[in-house]
Amino acid sequence: MDVIEYPDEMRAWSREQRAAGRLIGFVPTMGALHEGHASLMRESVAQNDVTVVSIFVNPTQFAPHEDFDRYPRTWDADRDLSEALGAQVVYAPSAQTMYPEKYSTYVTVERVQDHLCGASRPHFFRGVATVVAKLFNAVQPDRAYFGQKDAQQCAVIRRMVRDLDFPIEIIEMPVVREPDGLAMSSRNKYLSEDERQRALALSRGLIRGQELLNTGERDSARIIQEVRMQLADVETDYVALVDAEEMQPVATVDGAVVLAVAATVGSTRLIDNMKLMPGRSGGQAPRLL
Ligand code: PAF
Repeated sequence: MDVIEYPDEMRAWSREQRAAGRLIGFVPTMGALHEGHASLMRESVAQNDVTVVSIFVNPTQFAPHEDFDRYPRTWDADRDLSEALGAQVVYAPSAQTMYPEKYSTYVTVERVQDHLCGASRPHFFRGVATVVAKLFNAVQPDRAYFGQKDAQQCAVIRRMVRDLDFPIEIIEMPVVREPDGLAMSSRNKYLSEDERQRALALSRGLIRGQELLNTGERDSARIIQEVRMQLADVETDYVALVDAEEMQPVATVDGAVVLAVAATVGSTRLIDNMKLMPGRSGGQAPRLL
């Protein structure tokens, strides 16, 4: 497996693959890889001829008071996992390569980014859209793989790809959970044992919302209120029901929606969500022990 640092080298590699008729799958990550990332890599390896994984902790998606400095960096394990799962390249540019002096161009996807994490972290989606656009330009994949745990990020990227005419298919893969329901996240590493237990409130809240919808409740305010009650032991940032495409709040659930939660547990901010369709019981229920 190769490690590539520079966008022109990355593009040259991708050009060769395309000239040989190979389809390129791409899994963008910030490292600290876990089973959620592994599921994206497996899917990419299964669907494409070659797979590129990027590892870049992107400074522009962190505000100054956030956890950029302490974000887990596990380079050796990440490289080994990428290779073991069948990736051909890890693309690992430096911050200097990505954002050289006088860097001044940013991508903003309006509206889709307004609520949920966009409201709490106003810098976040501008940083994500910008870095993903730059990674797409370097890797030039046919397909790119993202996890549904970051449902709003998926919606932002789908819209950016459509609006900016990137010839890339975006594949969204289901949330991967621990056996007790906690959504996998690189930030779970920050949790103490007690916080880890309290963090289960997020998936419990989602299950409660799903139950209400399954028993016929359609009023968003009532569903949100009940989900909030499940989050009593954590510091809730938001509980929201939004439409699955525009990520705008809905007053009544009458189509596909995302039930999304964000909360701080100790000093760790966690997010989770479930895609739900009224009249169709199921969704992707986290298992609750
Ligand atoms: O989801 C992530 O890990 C990051 O937001 C991404 C898409 C790699 C951009 O930095």
